[in-house]
Amino acid sequence: MCGIVGYIGKADAPTVLLNGLRRLEYRGYDSAGIAVLDNGQMVISKSPGKVSALSERTRADWPAERFSRLTMGIAHTRWATHGPPTEINAHPHLDQSREIALVHNGIIENYRALRARLEGKGHHFYSETDTEVLVHLIGECDKGNLFQAVCDALHQVEGTFGIAVLSAREPEKIITARRGSPIVIGVGDGETIIASDAAAILAHTQRVIYLDDNDIAILTADSIEIRDLNNVPVTREIAELGYDETAAEKGGYGHFMLKEIYEQPDSLANAIRGRLDFNVGSSVLAGMGTSPRDLAELSRVVLIGCGTSLHASLVGEYAFEDLADLHAEVQQAAEFRYRNPILGSRDLVIAISQSGETADTLAAVREANQKGAFVMSLCNVVGSTIARETGRGVYLHAGPEISVASTKAFTCQVAVLLMMALKLGRGRRFSREEGIRFAREIEHLPALVAQVLLQNDRIAAIAETYAHNEHAFFIGRGPMYPVALEGALKLKEISYIHAEGYHAAELKHGPIALLVQGTPIIALACDVPGKDKMLGNIEECRARGARILGIVTEGDDATAACMDDFIEVPRCHPLVATIPAVVALQLFAYHVARIRGCEIDQPRNLAKSVTVE
Ligand code: G6P
Repeated sequence: MCGIVGYIGKADAPTVLLNGLRRLEYRGYDSAGIAVLDNGQMVISKSPGKVSALSERTRADWPAERFSRLTMGIAHTRWATHGPPTEINAHPHLDQSREIALVHNGIIENYRALRARLEGKGHHFYSETDTEVLVHLIGECDKGNLFQAVCDALHQVEGTFGIAVLSAREPEKIITARRGSPIVIGVGDGETIIASDAAAILAHTQRVIYLDDNDIAILTADSIEIRDLNNVPVTREIAELGYDETAAEKGGYGHFMLKEIYEQPDSLANAIRGRLDFNVGSSVLAGMGTSPRDLAELSRVVLIGCGTSLHASLVGEYAFEDLADLHAEVQQAAEFRYRNPILGSRDLVIAISQSGETADTLAAVREANQKGAFVMSLCNVVGSTIARETGRGVYLHAGPEISVASTKAFTCQVAVLLMMALKLGRGRRFSREEGIRFAREIEHLPALVAQVLLQNDRIAAIAETYAHNEHAFFIGRGPMYPVALEGALKLKEISYIHAEGYHAAELKHGPIALLVQGTPIIALACDVPGKDKMLGNIEECRARGARILGIVTEGDDATAACMDDFIEVPRCHPLVATIPAVVALQLFAYHVARIRGCEIDQPRNLAKSVTVE
């Protein structure tokens, strides 16, 4: 979702800003813009569509000398909320005096009332955005001190923001602030760069500061001063990013998605490394911050997430019940906050989020904390808001995930959930031997996934048969049910085929009415408990003309013979098998989308990090 970049330091700031925006493209957006100060004059360039269009327009409209003499500016990629993705609605927006520019991520919920008030004072608005209202408000509050003006304005707004502000009246600084939407400050050598996430900072420095909610900072090329909105100085630590630019590049693959699918043996190895203890038959997850006694006293696990992370939670639900004998339930994060959940100190709430910034998941974490539950997180992005607010949890170590459609984060989430369930299981009912056996299963995951990747060409060939359908149904049972949901999500996200995931038994309660000759059914028919029933469900579909693509266990020839097409996954524990099975579906979705000529890494309308509710 919206991306912010701000830079103050050395020459050619516009190029730094445009490169930064390119790094944030993966977040999802539909227009872009940049504002700089040239000889004290505010200069703006905006464009609907891609950053490349903005870059072309800026280079065509601005003289080359301007690029080389500028040392500061702010820039933005906008994911439309208030008003369509037009040039006028694109950020940066200007105040009434046209001397203050603002880029904003988040939503100003009381913008209508503020706008009416400002219009009453003679302000004129050009766009439909809430952001333009905020910058007018800052202008209205500016009595000669930009920092104070931003504080005063932010005291009056309801909603969420990550912002960067530039003023022609105080041309030596950038003001940035956050509430709900992330801001990371890169601490460079004679330069300071801010961004919505570290991807735009990597090229400049490894040293970063994460702002907390209600922090506001004054940035110059060589100073960073952070205060709260009441002007009280606060101290924030400098953290090391720990990965470089190559981690965020395609490395020879046509798409980030394919690269990330192929990275899974490594990302899984990283997620597992040092976390399995074969002596005691358990896992070592120090970040959970739990004693065996804490674990023994738990009465329930509640898993919360959105999108792909919600599907990982659903696999986790099976794992906690199966391995840890613990009542487990999954709640969609957006719903969790508003349904007044019943929680207590013996409930373990696990917030699952790749980005660690999803607004609904963050709100759910706050609600769970409020209710006194034992809250932890499972995030990929180190230092992200959810990771910091929960204070305990487990990082995935999957590396940066750039493709909007999540792949390696999902498999690492499931792997970590299996390790958590093993730890809880060992504390509650698993014997040492059972623990060791399951730990060995987890240990083999990278090799199991590598085996699926070897079938890439075969999966690409199968995709040719299915790529021209407009509907598809994915069915599964037990832990393969969430895999069916995730397979359908992957396909619809990147190929725009209408794909639905169902519990196989649920098909005949409605969706079966949609089956006609040739409708694709992708059936998770691995050799796990419930397979016989699954085979019955497949026959029901076949009898109505469906074409069946089965995901089957290697060597299960009888099941493979029931399919029109099949992809094999290695034999392993049913919970562990969810991971190789989903990798097969990721490759299938990828190839279908490739054949259909879709924009795989940045599908229309989607955002990588959903920072609004
Ligand atoms: C967006 C992304 C999905 C992701 C979901 C939850 O919809 O496009 O890939 O699964 O948000 O994101 P999170 O970062 O919380 O896992």
